[in-house]
Amino acid sequence: MDEHTWWKEAVVYQIYPRSFNDSDGDGIGDIPGITAKLEYVEELGVDAVWLSPVYESPQHDNGYDVSDYRSIHSAFGTMEDFDRLLTELHDRDIRLIMDMVANHTSSEHEWFQRSRSEPDGEYGDYYIWREGSPDEPPNNWESAFGGSAWEYDDERGAWYLHLFDVHQPDLNWRNPAVRRELFETMNWWLDKGIDGFRLDVINLLSKAEGLPDGDPDSEWVGSEHFADGPRIHEYLGAMHDAVFAGTDVVTIGEMPKLDLESARRYVGDGPLDLVFPFEHLELDFGAAGRWDVGPWDLTDLKAVFDTWQRGMEGHGWNTLFFENHDQPRSVSRFGNDEEYRYESATALATILLTLKGTPFLYQGEEIGMTNGSFERLDDARDVDTRRTVQELLEAGVIEDYEAIRPVVEYRSRDNARTPFQWDGSPHAGFTDGEPWIAVNDDYPEINVEREEARSPSILSYYRDLIALRGRMDTLVSGVYELYYPDDPQLYVYTRTRGNHQVVVVINVSELDRRVDPDALGSDGSLLVSNYGDVAVEPSGALELRPYEARLYEQSR
Ligand code: GLC
Repeated sequence: MDEHTWWKEAVVYQIYPRSFNDSDGDGIGDIPGITAKLEYVEELGVDAVWLSPVYESPQHDNGYDVSDYRSIHSAFGTMEDFDRLLTELHDRDIRLIMDMVANHTSSEHEWFQRSRSEPDGEYGDYYIWREGSPDEPPNNWESAFGGSAWEYDDERGAWYLHLFDVHQPDLNWRNPAVRRELFETMNWWLDKGIDGFRLDVINLLSKAEGLPDGDPDSEWVGSEHFADGPRIHEYLGAMHDAVFAGTDVVTIGEMPKLDLESARRYVGDGPLDLVFPFEHLELDFGAAGRWDVGPWDLTDLKAVFDTWQRGMEGHGWNTLFFENHDQPRSVSRFGNDEEYRYESATALATILLTLKGTPFLYQGEEIGMTNGSFERLDDARDVDTRRTVQELLEAGVIEDYEAIRPVVEYRSRDNARTPFQWDGSPHAGFTDGEPWIAVNDDYPEINVEREEARSPSILSYYRDLIALRGRMDTLVSGVYELYYPDDPQLYVYTRTRGNHQVVVVINVSELDRRVDPDALGSDGSLLVSNYGDVAVEPSGALELRPYEARLYEQSR
């Protein structure tokens, strides 16, 4: 494992450039818009920013379809704008983590254009092509966004694989030239002085020999043949040696379908520093999978976190996150975004910032932004949502959009992508123009300006907890221990370092709860509470109100 570990102490803030702040009135957030808001980011107290892709792209998947890795998409600005953002972040002691999409490119990338037009040329083997009849895809693998993962290309007269959108052909990592190109690209960015990469769907690089059919009943058909595939460790080891060895940049692998056992091979002594697993964000999948909503309960959530907290101890380091640009808003999902919006958002903040691992906070989470409303399919912008709904309609699984609308409004990635709510002015102060996706209707009530004026506020709670984490080593490296694993209402755990201990007590429910937490000794003193007025002393029973969260400090 890398000796330099600034990233274990860091809190990371993810910015989705398209939706953060628009500086030029075209309705699309941009890099100068981000630079203009760095004071806000600095005041949050975060140590690093993870920027979703800003590379040249036709934007079929909002930049996760890269057509040129070494230039900036014009709606986001210029390379000078980027350089300035990097300098200004560094001036404020904030690091910058870029998003690297290495599993696929845009179909408009020059490599793909040449691959399809010159099968025998230099780029002919850059993608995963298969010959065959145009009526019969080479296997039954599915795209993550619905439908077959194969597209027949008339120009080349062959099929190409796309695990995501049809405009995102998968690169052929078996080809050493592909690996070399991508490693060079990553080094090119490192030479600019960036501080790390979030590696998009990085455990999907290696596809099984012969591309066999997948289990047709699987939630993502074919995934057993491409998630954590046969050569993935060879590829990531080579990436580590060619790009990361000897540096202190951080590498975070986004990994669909990841379990703890596989995760432990990627981090620790493995090729990466951190991984993003998704088990905790699949608890509310229904019987039909992601586009179906099932109930989640606290005991399951605690069990997943507990598995990873204990499982990583001594092996590697966890990431902590409830949100990102692909997930709905956590307060709408795991809290109550109406009656208890403040209480439940701060309860979630408490979990995010006091479990063991590196917290990743997504723009808007810190002001309790909520899920959007998408009355018509046309209101949705996300390629995944639109395509999946289209597929369900075509297959006759649903009769009309209305039938799936509640699921879209619960699950769609667009929930995370509505414009950041800065203030109560038109379009929430995000843009002077027409935003590319509608602002959430609740913006007059939920915005930074309002949060600054309120006390207590979700924003100030985040700031306080981030600052506390920054000065209290116990919250970074303290050993974690869970209490009451089977209690459906209470989340109680301790973090212990030497003889210093923090006890975290959270009532994750809408009901009052009286508790005499075993973990709390008589010398426990209150450190933090999301309710202003905590009456009962630790020696007696605690009377916890809905979503009440408290941190006590004690010696042991
Ligand atoms: C990752 C990204 C997501 C994107 C997909 C394909 O999951 O987070 O936004 O659509 O990869 O690049």
